[in-house]
Amino acid sequence: MRTKIAGTGHYVPENVVTNDDLTKYMDTSNEWIIERTGIEERRYATKHKESTTTLGAKAARMAIKNAGITAEDIDFIIFATLSPDYYFPGCGVLLQRELGITGIEAGALDIRNQCSGFVYGLSIADQFIKSGMYKNILLVGAEMHSMGLDFSTEGRNVTVIFGDGAGAVVLQPTEDENQGILTTCLHSDGTHAEELAMINPGSHGGYHLGTEKFGYPDPSTPGGVFVTQKMVDDNMLVPNMTGQLVFKTAVVKFPQVIKEALEKTNLSTSDIDLLIPHQANLRISQFVQKTLRLSDEKVVNNIQKYGNTTAASIPIAMSEAWHDGRIKDGDLVCLAAFGSGFTWGSVLIRW
Ligand code: COA
Repeated sequence: MRTKIAGTGHYVPENVVTNDDLTKYMDTSNEWIIERTGIEERRYATKHKESTTTLGAKAARMAIKNAGITAEDIDFIIFATLSPDYYFPGCGVLLQRELGITGIEAGALDIRNQCSGFVYGLSIADQFIKSGMYKNILLVGAEMHSMGLDFSTEGRNVTVIFGDGAGAVVLQPTEDENQGILTTCLHSDGTHAEELAMINPGSHGGYHLGTEKFGYPDPSTPGGVFVTQKMVDDNMLVPNMTGQLVFKTAVVKFPQVIKEALEKTNLSTSDIDLLIPHQANLRISQFVQKTLRLSDEKVVNNIQKYGNTTAASIPIAMSEAWHDGRIKDGDLVCLAAFGSGFTWGSVLIRW
């Protein structure tokens, strides 16, 4: 028994935000952003009307239709995001409600693996399908970054990179041994957890970090206060990133984890028909492409249009590639991701 991708879907908000638009809020330029990241524009969801869950639901409906099933057929939901609607509960149950399938006996699982969330989700879904536990798993990666970015010059290194969007797949069992997920490789190393992170609000109270930068609990309460005035005053409720460390680590881990998947399946880089890397930065993807000696038509890049959409980037790119006819039956498709944690991973799929 193998796991096949039975349907793909994606959705990006209509609102296009160009690099020039961002120059109204922060000291940056179209040239700087394109040169360092390749990003030309990104999408932002409509405040008060859309959320991570509603973006995910639009992608999910497309994937469900593409798989030729109905929402009622879904027996398990996996939702990967770092920008959930609520701190808890997670987006999985909200998506179930949004799709109108609260009456069915489905479980819902939320994944907090940031840029690798979709790859981790595929691996989990693959195990559930192969064990015979589920027959129609809906896996969604969705992000609404625009609600949590720092639009001042202080936050420019992070803010210019990220965009909103969602992608989804429906996974089903197949008995065709020449089709489906061939292998998944997952890795993590928490050494640099705070180097690409949104640390506040959280339960740490400065404990692990021992520095005011990360805020302390309110001393006037027996517990702590989740969000302190100091966090607001000191602009501590935003993501931070040590860009060069992320870049240098990513360009090593991406090729490593892709080669690991190929070795496990006795395949080589020349067997890859399409590489769909997490859209972190165009320069990172170009570096990986060069290292693996892949031609331009074998690598999917859409970061120019959407920015980095974290857990949504691979399923958006995969869905676009399928709907554009770039993925054909029998193709060997390789997915790879690296991001906050650090976590990274790869998946090989025979389509
Ligand atoms: N516009 C203009 N200038 C900017 C800027 C922006 N948006 N962001 C940062 N800068 C400035 C910095 O303030 C710094 O100025 P200084 O030299 O006067 O201090 C200068 O550019 C260089 O900063 P640095 O952070 O060293 O830039 P960089 O060359 O490393 O590029 C990134 C920054 C973020 C583009 C790059 O590090 C990167 O892409 N890293 C990987 C990020 C990534 O992929 N994240 C997602 C992982 S899932």
